[in-house]
Amino acid sequence: MADYDYDVLVIGSGPGGYVAAIRAAQLGLKTACAEGRETLGGTCLNVGCIPSKAMLHASEYFEAAAGGAMAAMGIKVKPELDLGAMHGQRKDAVKGLTGGIEFLFKKNKVDWLKGYAQFTSADTVEVAGKSVRAKNIIVATGSSVTPLPGVAVDNDKQIIVDSTGALELAKVPGHMVVIGGGVIGLELGSVWRRLGAKVTCVEFLDQILPGMDGDVRKEANRIFKKQGIEFKLKTKVTKAEVKGKKAVLTLEPAAGGDAETLEADVVLVSIGRRPNTEGLGLDKAGLTTNQRGQIETDHDFRTSVPGIWAIGDVIPGPMLAHKAEDEGIACAENIAGLTGIVNHDVIPSVVYTWPEIAGVGLTEEQAKERGEVKVGKFPMLANSRAKTNHEPDGFVKVIADAKSDRVLGVWCIASVAGTMIAQAAQAMEFGATSEDIAYTCHAHPTHSEAIKEAAMAVTGKPIHI
Ligand code: FAD
Ligand code: NAI
Repeated sequence: MADYDYDVLVIGSGPGGYVAAIRAAQLGLKTACAEGRETLGGTCLNVGCIPSKAMLHASEYFEAAAGGAMAAMGIKVKPELDLGAMHGQRKDAVKGLTGGIEFLFKKNKVDWLKGYAQFTSADTVEVAGKSVRAKNIIVATGSSVTPLPGVAVDNDKQIIVDSTGALELAKVPGHMVVIGGGVIGLELGSVWRRLGAKVTCVEFLDQILPGMDGDVRKEANRIFKKQGIEFKLKTKVTKAEVKGKKAVLTLEPAAGGDAETLEADVVLVSIGRRPNTEGLGLDKAGLTTNQRGQIETDHDFRTSVPGIWAIGDVIPGPMLAHKAEDEGIACAENIAGLTGIVNHDVIPSVVYTWPEIAGVGLTEEQAKERGEVKVGKFPMLANSRAKTNHEPDGFVKVIADAKSDRVLGVWCIASVAGTMIAQAAQAMEFGATSEDIAYTCHAHPTHSEAIKEAAMAVTGKPIHI
């Protein structure tokens, strides 16, 4: 190691980077992690997964009290919103968890290099004016909001905001327009709708939640509409102007046609995220990006330049924290000479709305493109626990190969779908058939019994419908 400062230098401390750094240090490698933010944890802990879930959880309680769900169970309350306190508990959650990563870095002897790193050569970066040389460099710089031409985000003004701004609104907007019916739009749109905003979601495509199973997309749309979100599908926003304290949006049919205008107190731009590679000095390292701005890697997370690795949102694949984490572990293990593997076919995704929406593996549409399939569906209305808890919406769908019965995909809409999907992912990782799931004893009464019944439905024999 003579002339290297570190065995491993990780750029970025999000779920990909911080996990890679800790695993590398656990494996005995001298490790540093460069992070430009003031706190560790990346998008996920600072402005993503964690603060959004803090607001979703709190607003779910508020709506349960304000919307009559508690009264239906004999609990009469008149809630009063203390938005400041709600934001306070969000900030506490973020502080606790980002501080936790700092503790884990100290415990595992990972050096935190404070500042933005820039390559000066293939094995050297500059951080805060200091040159650091490492035998292996992992790029884990994550992603940021994709801008929408004609719609300028200014989080400070709190009128046209991105997800970071939408987490911090100082008051509940009268009318919030969400541009993009994807995960961020539906999660953060749900938060403000629950707290009293009228929410309109403008989506370019003919359906929300692209990439998810077709039945799930339709049912989710029906549920969100019932909850009061108004959808303008097949519509694009071409311009947004701030006039006083409002924004005036110009909308056009996606296929072209007459424009209309829409007034909003707050506009949330959530049309996707793009990889962070600007200012990294990739050219100095001999690295290039693909057409989508991502750094390409092989299965071991090696880039085209020996000694440089990449993981997380900055490489192709779903932009999810758990995908980044697993890649971080596998990448560090590969650097240490072990065999780090991520099965990209079995990465669950969850939308943390109410009910939650979750899936793993292929959609029915994708599975049918590949061959003959059998599909089993079971409604949550027929699940005793969901019915008892007044949670009638949603279903579980199990998609299996028609010949081998091997499970190819599982999709759920249920209050606890995010928790339920873990068993489906595990079953698929072990190569389970639908029969394996159907004959596994599930505790009663649990929402998870719906997965068992959907698996039974694959061969046409559920008990409760
Ligand atoms: P990031 O978390 O983006 O971290 C990259 C870090 O690198 C950043 O801290 C950045 O400051 C730093 N960095 C960048 N360039 C440099 C440089 N040159 N030098 C030093 N540091 C640098 N995913 C889920 O799985 N579940 C969820 O519930 C979920 N909710 C989300 C909610 C919101 C509102 C958003 C925006 C995202 C959410 N995501 C969620 C996505 C998730 O946050 C990302 O997939 C995940 O954070 C990606 O991890 P990463 O390590 O690749 O990058
Ligand atoms: P997204 O890709 O999920 O959804 C963007 C939506 O905007 C799509 O439906 C797209 O068709 C639409 N769109 C694109 N351009 C448009 C336009 N001009 N006008 C109208 N609609 C337009 O992106 P989103 O919601 O911004 O989230 C970014 C990423 O963050 C997601 O890909 C996801 O991986 C991650 N994330 C994950 C969460 C989770 O796991 N629960 C929560 C939040 C974010």
